[in-house]
Amino acid sequence: MLQNEKVCFSGVQPSGNLTIGNYLGAIKNFSTFSSEYRCFYCVVDEHAITVRQVPADLRRRTYETLALYMACGLDPEKNTLYVQSHVPAHAELGWILNCFTMFGELSRMTQFKDKSARHADNVNAGLFTYPTLMAADILLYQTDIVPVGIDQKQHLELARDIAGRFNAIHANTFTVPEPYMAKTGMKIMSLADPTKKMSKSDENANAVIYILDDRDTIIRKFKRAVTDSGSEVRMGEGKDGINNLITIYSAFTGKTVEEIEREFDGRGYGDFKLAVGEVCADALTPVQTRFAELLADKAGLEQVMKTGAETAARAAYRTLNKVKKKLGFVV
Ligand code: TRP
Repeated sequence: MLQNEKVCFSGVQPSGNLTIGNYLGAIKNFSTFSSEYRCFYCVVDEHAITVRQVPADLRRRTYETLALYMACGLDPEKNTLYVQSHVPAHAELGWILNCFTMFGELSRMTQFKDKSARHADNVNAGLFTYPTLMAADILLYQTDIVPVGIDQKQHLELARDIAGRFNAIHANTFTVPEPYMAKTGMKIMSLADPTKKMSKSDENANAVIYILDDRDTIIRKFKRAVTDSGSEVRMGEGKDGINNLITIYSAFTGKTVEEIEREFDGRGYGDFKLAVGEVCADALTPVQTRFAELLADKAGLEQVMKTGAETAARAAYRTLNKVKKKLGFVV
Protein backbone atom coordinates (compact mmCIF):
# COMPACT_ATOMS: atom_id res chain seq x y z
CA MET A 1 0.00 0.00 0.00
CA LEU A 2 1.38 3.41 -0.86
CA GLN A 3 1.95 5.63 2.09
CA ASN A 4 -0.53 8.50 2.38
CA GLU A 5 -2.87 6.80 -0.02
CA LYS A 6 -6.40 7.31 1.27
CA VAL A 7 -8.66 4.32 1.67
CA CYS A 8 -12.35 3.95 0.86
CA PHE A 9 -14.35 0.96 2.11
CA SER A 10 -17.96 -0.09 1.77
CA GLY A 11 -20.03 -3.24 1.91
CA VAL A 12 -23.33 -4.53 0.60
CA GLN A 13 -25.21 -7.53 1.98
CA PRO A 14 -26.05 -10.32 -0.45
CA SER A 15 -29.53 -10.63 1.01
CA GLY A 16 -32.69 -9.64 -0.83
CA ASN A 17 -32.77 -7.97 -4.20
CA LEU A 18 -31.11 -4.58 -4.29
CA THR A 19 -33.31 -1.53 -4.77
CA ILE A 20 -32.82 1.91 -6.28
CA GLY A 21 -32.36 3.03 -2.67
CA ASN A 22 -29.19 0.93 -2.46
CA TYR A 23 -28.20 2.08 -5.93
CA LEU A 24 -28.68 5.83 -5.51
CA GLY A 25 -27.73 5.97 -1.84
CA ALA A 26 -24.52 4.01 -2.16
CA ILE A 27 -23.45 1.77 -5.06
CA LYS A 28 -23.81 4.36 -7.83
CA ASN A 29 -21.28 6.57 -6.04
CA PHE A 30 -18.73 3.88 -5.39
CA SER A 31 -16.93 4.21 -8.71
CA THR A 32 -16.34 7.95 -8.19
CA PHE A 33 -13.81 7.17 -5.46
CA SER A 34 -11.55 4.91 -7.52
CA SER A 35 -9.33 7.67 -8.87
CA GLU A 36 -8.56 9.26 -5.51
CA TYR A 37 -8.77 6.41 -3.05
CA ARG A 38 -7.66 2.86 -2.70
CA CYS A 39 -11.09 1.23 -2.72
CA PHE A 40 -12.30 -1.96 -1.10
CA TYR A 41 -15.86 -3.07 -1.84
CA CYS A 42 -16.98 -6.12 0.02
CA VAL A 43 -19.94 -8.49 -0.30
CA VAL A 44 -20.75 -8.95 3.38
CA ASP A 45 -22.08 -12.49 3.56
CA GLU A 46 -21.26 -12.81 7.27
CA HIS A 47 -23.59 -9.92 8.04
CA ALA A 48 -26.32 -11.54 5.96
CA ILE A 49 -26.58 -14.60 8.22
CA THR A 50 -27.68 -12.50 11.19
CA VAL A 51 -31.13 -13.23 9.77
CA ARG A 52 -31.99 -16.69 8.40
CA GLN A 53 -31.01 -17.23 4.78
CA VAL A 54 -31.82 -19.99 2.33
CA PRO A 55 -28.29 -21.29 1.54
CA ALA A 56 -28.81 -21.59 -2.23
CA ASP A 57 -30.21 -18.05 -2.36
CA LEU A 58 -27.34 -16.65 -0.31
CA ARG A 59 -24.81 -18.29 -2.65
CA ARG A 60 -26.56 -17.00 -5.78
CA ARG A 61 -26.88 -13.50 -4.37
CA THR A 62 -23.22 -13.40 -3.45
CA TYR A 63 -22.39 -13.82 -7.14
CA GLU A 64 -25.14 -11.38 -8.08
CA THR A 65 -23.94 -8.69 -5.69
CA LEU A 66 -20.41 -8.93 -7.05
CA ALA A 67 -21.76 -8.78 -10.62
CA LEU A 68 -23.84 -5.78 -9.68
CA TYR A 69 -20.82 -3.95 -8.29
CA MET A 70 -19.12 -4.46 -11.63
CA ALA A 71 -22.24 -3.62 -13.65
CA CYS A 72 -22.46 -0.34 -11.73
CA GLY A 73 -19.04 0.60 -13.03
CA LEU A 74 -16.57 -0.85 -10.55
CA ASP A 75 -13.56 -2.11 -12.46
CA PRO A 76 -11.86 -4.96 -10.54
CA GLU A 77 -8.51 -3.71 -11.80
CA LYS A 78 -9.03 -0.42 -10.00
CA ASN A 79 -11.00 -1.59 -6.96
CA THR A 80 -10.61 -4.53 -4.64
CA LEU A 81 -13.86 -6.48 -4.96
CA TYR A 82 -14.25 -9.50 -2.69
CA VAL A 83 -16.37 -11.56 -0.33
CA GLN A 84 -16.15 -10.99 3.42
CA SER A 85 -16.00 -14.67 4.46
CA HIS A 86 -13.01 -15.19 2.15
CA VAL A 87 -10.92 -12.98 4.44
CA PRO A 88 -11.08 -14.48 7.97
CA ALA A 89 -9.46 -11.36 9.43
CA HIS A 90 -12.92 -9.74 9.47
CA ALA A 91 -14.32 -12.28 11.89
CA GLU A 92 -11.13 -12.24 13.96
CA LEU A 93 -11.07 -8.48 14.39
CA GLY A 94 -14.83 -8.59 14.93
CA TRP A 95 -14.29 -10.74 18.01
CA ILE A 96 -11.57 -8.46 19.33
CA LEU A 97 -13.71 -5.37 18.84
CA ASN A 98 -16.59 -7.04 20.68
CA CYS A 99 -14.36 -6.69 23.72
CA PHE A 100 -14.11 -2.94 23.10
CA THR A 101 -17.82 -2.35 22.53
CA MET A 102 -20.30 -1.80 25.31
CA PHE A 103 -23.55 -3.68 25.75
CA GLY A 104 -25.33 -0.35 26.18
CA GLU A 105 -23.98 1.01 22.90
CA LEU A 106 -25.20 -1.99 20.95
CA SER A 107 -28.59 -1.84 22.70
CA ARG A 108 -29.12 1.67 21.39
CA MET A 109 -28.71 0.76 17.71
CA THR A 110 -31.99 1.49 15.98
CA GLN A 111 -31.37 -1.16 13.31
CA PHE A 112 -31.01 -3.79 16.04
CA LYS A 113 -34.26 -2.66 17.61
CA ASP A 114 -36.06 -2.74 14.23
CA LYS A 115 -34.64 -6.07 13.15
CA SER A 116 -35.24 -7.77 16.48
CA ALA A 117 -38.86 -6.65 16.31
CA ARG A 118 -39.16 -8.01 12.77
CA HIS A 119 -37.41 -11.30 13.58
CA ALA A 120 -38.68 -11.80 17.12
CA ASP A 121 -38.12 -15.57 16.93
CA ASN A 122 -34.43 -15.15 16.09
CA VAL A 123 -32.89 -12.35 18.13
CA ASN A 124 -29.44 -13.92 17.98
CA ALA A 125 -26.16 -12.58 19.36
CA GLY A 126 -24.88 -11.94 15.82
CA LEU A 127 -27.75 -9.56 15.17
CA PHE A 128 -26.77 -7.73 18.34
CA THR A 129 -23.05 -7.52 17.55
CA TYR A 130 -23.57 -6.83 13.84
CA PRO A 131 -22.15 -3.29 14.26
CA THR A 132 -18.86 -4.53 15.73
CA LEU A 133 -18.31 -6.76 12.70
CA MET A 134 -19.08 -3.76 10.53
CA ALA A 135 -16.54 -1.73 12.53
CA ALA A 136 -14.01 -4.52 11.95
CA ASP A 137 -14.68 -4.45 8.18
CA ILE A 138 -13.90 -0.75 8.11
CA LEU A 139 -11.05 -0.52 10.60
CA LEU A 140 -9.11 -3.46 9.14
CA TYR A 141 -8.24 -1.38 6.09
CA GLN A 142 -7.32 1.86 7.91
CA THR A 143 -10.27 3.36 6.08
CA ASP A 144 -10.59 7.12 5.67
CA ILE A 145 -13.99 7.29 4.03
CA VAL A 146 -17.08 5.07 4.00
CA PRO A 147 -19.78 5.77 1.41
CA VAL A 148 -23.05 4.55 2.93
CA GLY A 149 -26.74 5.25 2.96
CA ILE A 150 -28.02 7.42 5.77
CA ASP A 151 -29.50 4.38 7.54
CA GLN A 152 -25.92 3.27 8.33
CA LYS A 153 -24.90 6.54 9.97
CA GLN A 154 -25.40 5.29 13.51
CA HIS A 155 -23.32 2.18 12.85
CA LEU A 156 -20.57 4.33 11.43
CA GLU A 157 -20.57 6.59 14.46
CA LEU A 158 -20.18 3.52 16.62
CA ALA A 159 -17.23 2.37 14.47
CA ARG A 160 -15.63 5.77 15.06
CA ASP A 161 -16.22 5.47 18.81
CA ILE A 162 -14.73 1.98 18.89
CA ALA A 163 -11.67 3.15 16.94
CA GLY A 164 -11.25 6.11 19.26
CA ARG A 165 -11.59 3.95 22.36
CA PHE A 166 -9.06 1.42 21.08
CA ASN A 167 -6.63 4.18 20.10
CA ALA A 168 -6.97 5.79 23.52
CA ILE A 169 -5.76 2.56 25.11
CA HIS A 170 -3.34 1.43 22.37
CA ALA A 171 -2.20 4.57 20.58
CA ASN A 172 -2.15 4.91 16.79
CA THR A 173 -3.82 1.68 15.88
CA PHE A 174 -6.77 2.64 13.70
CA THR A 175 -7.61 5.43 11.32
CA VAL A 176 -10.92 6.98 12.44
CA PRO A 177 -13.22 6.78 9.40
CA GLU A 178 -15.52 9.48 8.05
CA PRO A 179 -18.91 8.74 6.57
CA TYR A 180 -19.68 9.93 3.06
CA MET A 181 -23.32 10.39 2.25
CA ALA A 182 -24.67 11.18 -1.18
CA LYS A 183 -26.23 14.64 -1.43
CA THR A 184 -29.40 13.54 -3.14
CA GLY A 185 -30.98 10.18 -3.21
CA MET A 186 -29.55 9.23 0.12
CA LYS A 187 -32.90 8.28 1.51
CA ILE A 188 -35.33 6.84 -0.94
CA MET A 189 -38.76 6.14 0.52
CA SER A 190 -41.30 3.40 -0.19
CA LEU A 191 -43.59 4.10 -3.15
CA ALA A 192 -46.56 2.67 -1.24
CA ASP A 193 -45.89 4.43 2.07
CA PRO A 194 -43.53 7.37 1.54
CA THR A 195 -43.07 7.87 5.27
CA LYS A 196 -41.13 4.58 5.37
CA LYS A 197 -37.72 3.83 3.88
CA MET A 198 -37.73 1.82 0.63
CA SER A 199 -36.64 -1.58 1.87
CA LYS A 200 -35.55 -4.63 -0.07
CA SER A 201 -37.43 -6.78 2.43
CA ASP A 202 -40.78 -5.00 1.90
CA GLU A 203 -43.55 -7.54 1.32
CA ASN A 204 -45.31 -5.25 -1.13
CA ALA A 205 -43.28 -5.44 -4.37
CA ASN A 206 -45.05 -2.31 -5.65
CA ALA A 207 -43.44 -0.29 -2.88
CA VAL A 208 -39.97 -0.99 -4.17
CA ILE A 209 -38.08 -0.51 -7.43
CA TYR A 210 -35.46 -3.24 -7.77
CA ILE A 211 -32.32 -2.54 -9.78
CA LEU A 212 -33.24 -5.53 -11.94
CA ASP A 213 -36.90 -4.59 -12.57
CA ASP A 214 -37.67 -4.34 -16.28
CA ARG A 215 -38.76 -1.13 -17.93
CA ASP A 216 -42.52 -1.85 -17.94
CA THR A 217 -42.46 -2.86 -14.30
CA ILE A 218 -40.58 0.30 -13.35
CA ILE A 219 -43.02 2.54 -15.22
CA ARG A 220 -46.04 0.73 -13.80
CA LYS A 221 -44.74 0.96 -10.22
CA PHE A 222 -44.05 4.69 -10.50
CA LYS A 223 -47.50 5.24 -11.99
CA ARG A 224 -49.01 3.63 -8.91
CA ALA A 225 -46.79 5.49 -6.45
CA VAL A 226 -48.83 6.95 -3.59
CA THR A 227 -49.05 10.75 -3.72
CA ASP A 228 -51.25 13.35 -2.01
CA SER A 229 -54.44 14.74 -3.50
CA GLY A 230 -52.73 17.84 -4.94
CA SER A 231 -51.44 18.23 -8.47
CA GLU A 232 -48.50 20.61 -8.33
CA VAL A 233 -45.04 19.10 -8.66
CA ARG A 234 -43.45 20.97 -5.75
CA MET A 235 -41.53 19.94 -2.68
CA GLY A 236 -43.58 20.62 0.42
CA GLU A 237 -44.55 19.54 3.86
CA GLY A 238 -47.01 16.67 4.01
CA LYS A 239 -46.21 15.79 0.40
CA ASP A 240 -43.98 12.83 1.21
CA GLY A 241 -44.87 10.97 -1.98
CA ILE A 242 -44.06 13.84 -4.33
CA ASN A 243 -41.00 14.81 -2.30
CA ASN A 244 -39.71 11.27 -2.72
CA LEU A 245 -40.35 11.25 -6.48
CA ILE A 246 -38.58 14.60 -6.84
CA THR A 247 -35.62 13.21 -4.90
CA ILE A 248 -35.50 10.17 -7.18
CA TYR A 249 -35.79 12.26 -10.36
CA SER A 250 -33.10 14.60 -9.11
CA ALA A 251 -30.75 11.73 -8.22
CA PHE A 252 -31.11 10.15 -11.66
CA THR A 253 -30.87 13.36 -13.71
CA GLY A 254 -28.62 15.54 -11.57
CA LYS A 255 -31.21 18.33 -11.84
CA THR A 256 -31.91 20.54 -8.84
CA VAL A 257 -35.31 20.70 -7.14
CA GLU A 258 -35.94 24.17 -8.62
CA GLU A 259 -35.14 22.96 -12.12
CA ILE A 260 -37.50 20.05 -11.68
CA GLU A 261 -40.30 22.24 -10.32
CA ARG A 262 -39.90 24.54 -13.32
CA GLU A 263 -39.79 21.64 -15.79
CA PHE A 264 -43.09 20.24 -14.49
CA ASP A 265 -44.83 23.52 -13.77
CA GLY A 266 -48.51 23.06 -14.66
CA ARG A 267 -48.08 19.49 -15.85
CA GLY A 268 -49.56 17.44 -13.00
CA TYR A 269 -48.58 14.29 -11.17
CA GLY A 270 -49.37 11.83 -13.99
CA ASP A 271 -46.83 13.35 -16.37
CA PHE A 272 -44.26 13.59 -13.66
CA LYS A 273 -44.63 9.98 -12.53
CA LEU A 274 -44.13 8.81 -16.10
CA ALA A 275 -41.00 10.97 -16.44
CA VAL A 276 -39.56 9.57 -13.20
CA GLY A 277 -40.20 6.04 -14.46
CA GLU A 278 -38.50 6.80 -17.75
CA VAL A 279 -35.32 8.32 -16.32
CA CYS A 280 -35.07 5.47 -13.85
CA ALA A 281 -35.51 2.80 -16.55
CA ASP A 282 -33.06 4.62 -18.87
CA ALA A 283 -30.42 4.66 -16.15
CA LEU A 284 -30.90 1.04 -15.14
CA THR A 285 -31.07 -0.58 -18.59
CA PRO A 286 -27.30 -0.51 -19.27
CA VAL A 287 -26.61 -1.76 -15.73
CA GLN A 288 -28.99 -4.68 -16.31
CA THR A 289 -27.45 -5.60 -19.65
CA ARG A 290 -23.96 -5.64 -18.21
CA PHE A 291 -25.17 -7.54 -15.14
CA ALA A 292 -26.59 -10.34 -17.29
CA GLU A 293 -23.31 -10.64 -19.24
CA LEU A 294 -21.23 -10.77 -16.07
CA LEU A 295 -23.47 -13.32 -14.39
CA ALA A 296 -23.22 -15.63 -17.38
CA ASP A 297 -19.48 -15.92 -16.72
CA LYS A 298 -19.32 -17.51 -13.30
CA ALA A 299 -15.67 -18.47 -13.62
CA GLY A 300 -14.86 -14.83 -14.37
CA LEU A 301 -16.63 -13.74 -11.19
CA GLU A 302 -14.82 -16.39 -9.17
CA GLN A 303 -11.52 -15.10 -10.47
CA VAL A 304 -12.42 -11.57 -9.38
CA MET A 305 -13.41 -12.82 -5.90
CA LYS A 306 -10.21 -14.78 -5.54
CA THR A 307 -7.87 -12.01 -6.61
CA GLY A 308 -9.85 -9.52 -4.52
CA ALA A 309 -9.66 -11.67 -1.40
CA GLU A 310 -5.88 -12.07 -1.78
CA THR A 311 -5.36 -8.33 -2.07
CA ALA A 312 -7.74 -7.60 0.79
CA ALA A 313 -6.16 -10.22 3.04
CA ARG A 314 -2.70 -8.68 2.65
CA ALA A 315 -3.96 -5.30 3.80
CA ALA A 316 -6.20 -6.77 6.52
CA TYR A 317 -3.53 -8.92 8.15
CA ARG A 318 -1.18 -5.98 8.41
CA THR A 319 -3.72 -4.28 10.68
CA LEU A 320 -4.75 -7.45 12.47
CA ASN A 321 -1.15 -8.32 13.38
CA LYS A 322 -0.60 -4.84 14.72
CA VAL A 323 -3.75 -5.16 16.84
CA LYS A 324 -2.72 -8.56 18.18
CA LYS A 325 0.71 -7.28 19.19
CA LYS A 326 -0.80 -4.26 20.93
CA LEU A 327 -3.15 -6.53 22.85
CA GLY A 328 -0.35 -8.79 24.05
CA PHE A 329 -1.18 -11.83 21.95
CA VAL A 330 1.85 -13.95 21.15
CA VAL A 331 2.24 -13.57 17.39
N1 TRP B 1 -24.48 -2.68 7.28
C1 TRP B 1 -24.35 -2.30 5.90
C2 TRP B 1 -25.74 -2.29 5.25
O1 TRP B 1 -26.58 -3.07 5.60
C3 TRP B 1 -23.46 -3.24 5.15
C4 TRP B 1 -22.06 -3.19 5.66
C5 TRP B 1 -21.40 -4.15 6.35
C6 TRP B 1 -21.16 -2.10 5.49
N2 TRP B 1 -20.14 -3.75 6.61
C7 TRP B 1 -19.95 -2.51 6.12
C8 TRP B 1 -21.26 -0.83 4.89
C9 TRP B 1 -18.86 -1.65 6.17
C10 TRP B 1 -20.15 0.00 4.95
C11 TRP B 1 -18.97 -0.40 5.58
O2 TRP B 1 -25.94 -1.53 4.35
